Amino acid sequence: MLKENNNNNDNAIPHQVRNDLVFNFCHCGLDPQSHNREIYHNLYYVGGVVRDELLGLESIDVDVVYEGNAIAFGRSLPNAEVIQINEPFGTVRVKINGREIDIASTREEVYERKGHLPTVTKIGCTLKDDVKRRDFTINALYKSVATGEIIDYTGGLEDLKTKKLRVLHDESFIDDPTRILRALKFSVRFGFTLDAHTKNLQDEYLKNINYDMCYKRIKKELIETFNLNSYNAFEKFINDGVYKLVTPCNTILPSVNIENLIRRHSVERPWLVYVGVLRDLSRLPLTKTEQKILDDFNAIGELKSDFEIYKAFEKAQPETVLLYAVLKNENAALKYLDKLSKIKISINGKDLQELGLAPSPKYQEVFDYVLVRKLANPVMSRQDELEIVRHYLID
Ligand code: CTP
Repeated sequence: MLKENNNNNDNAIPHQVRNDLVFNFCHCGLDPQSHNREIYHNLYYVGGVVRDELLGLESIDVDVVYEGNAIAFGRSLPNAEVIQINEPFGTVRVKINGREIDIASTREEVYERKGHLPTVTKIGCTLKDDVKRRDFTINALYKSVATGEIIDYTGGLEDLKTKKLRVLHDESFIDDPTRILRALKFSVRFGFTLDAHTKNLQDEYLKNINYDMCYKRIKKELIETFNLNSYNAFEKFINDGVYKLVTPCNTILPSVNIENLIRRHSVERPWLVYVGVLRDLSRLPLTKTEQKILDDFNAIGELKSDFEIYKAFEKAQPETVLLYAVLKNENAALKYLDKLSKIKISINGKDLQELGLAPSPKYQEVFDYVLVRKLANPVMSRQDELEIVRHYLID
């Protein structure tokens, strides 16, 4: 066990979320840095929050673990209200000074069904046993709330320095293949690489994937990884065969640079443009909108004229258009995004009625007739459009 006292750095590191937590404790008279220290003796920050602090980065969330039973600890905290309890996982949410904090118990887990959520076998184990359930050494660092001491059982501090992602044991990816995607995500976020042995374990797993896995968790990691919009990550995803977690169908790297495309044309779901390249997303639990984006893309064939391009993309989600750019015809999709999508006809049903045309399906014919001409001549005025309609009705 390597221990490194980080006490002196405590106040120097700008770390909003962590500070919020200390704030919570301090402002109800429970200052972990002073006389109440013993209350916090078994309380540790763990995982991403410790990693990010050591990297000098802000954290998204704070994970806190209690060495022992967190539920009993939560109940014993003075001036704290227990808000929620999850007995099977040994977690508790407490409210201190108007703010809520989740505290987990140290626990042991086994993967009874590989690739699915583990089963908790013991709540309230030692910190040293709690560490075994974690994914990478850099995520297996603990920091004492009471003293600021960093506790490193697995060499995480060294791996942070050498920028390595290292699993804790050889079964890690077999237990939880989402870790392969998490490694990719962390490599993008921090510029880390897999250590050689971990890379071998990944390659071995990818040669023999057990597709009976929890695709809800895979999808979550895909979203977090590819919403970072990194073509580098996508290159690794394809070239290292990580995509095989999603589909056994062979896929090659498309020539279009998706990162640049999304920079120019931002979309709500960048991940779907990347992962959509695989074409077979049948294992992922997609929402109706996500499925429609893919179905619309599949339904669009060759587009020969500006009118066909306009009609194909007019009602489509932007992700459908970008997928078409990546996999079918970049020029047509870009022409739509850069130029055609900005063109709109000005006339409406009321204008047609005033010109003596009773409401009928013919309205659409007239609008399309005007649209074809407006696409060829976008500066056309409303008067010009009305003139075109008049001619059309006379002919
Ligand atoms: N963890 C794990 N295996 C997973 C998911 C999580 O071992 N498949 C452990 C890691 O110790 C991780 C911690 O649970 O650090 C918290 O997980 P999560 O919140 O998903 O990730 P963070 O590491 O906190 O990273 P971030 O929230 O910044 O993405």
